[in-house]
Amino acid sequence: MRKILSSIFILGSFLLLFPSCYNDNEYDLYPFPGTKCDSTNVTYSQTIAPIMSANCNVCHSSAIASGGVVTETYNGMLVISNNGRLWLDVSWASSGDPMPKGGSKLSACDQGKIKKWINLGSPNN
Ligand code: HEC
Repeated sequence: MRKILSSIFILGSFLLLFPSCYNDNEYDLYPFPGTKCDSTNVTYSQTIAPIMSANCNVCHSSAIASGGVVTETYNGMLVISNNGRLWLDVSWASSGDPMPKGGSKLSACDQGKIKKWINLGSPNN
């Protein structure tokens, strides 16, 4: 009898412990399933500019401007955001010119942040 009672107690403890984690799954916490990606506060200065600086500006600074494209400045980004090339190229769409050229595709997280910034209307914030 004691054994059964303690088993029930142990089982009960587990049931009490686990429901508290019920909503803490990735889908609720992170907008991009499967990745630890926080895209809640996407801004030009804090999110987009650093991604460009790490992946694009080496070929798209104001001085170099490969293909006439500048990713180093807000105004340059506004041009490729508005003409659709930014998304086509970073998502490696078949109708795009895959960027970063000769490199590997940006992470799904970074792509998602760029997409979000475009959808927000490419704010200069
Ligand atoms: C290693 C150099 C290099 C890097 C890094 C690079 N690009 Fe490019 N990019 C080029 C060159 C060169 C062109 C000119 C077109 C061509 O040769 O494909 C170009 C063209 C483009 C164009 C215009 C092409 C079109 O679709 O009409 C866009 C937009 C662009 N790049 C965006 C980016 C973005 C965004 C990144 C970073 C994720 C990036 N590039 C990283 C070299 C680079």
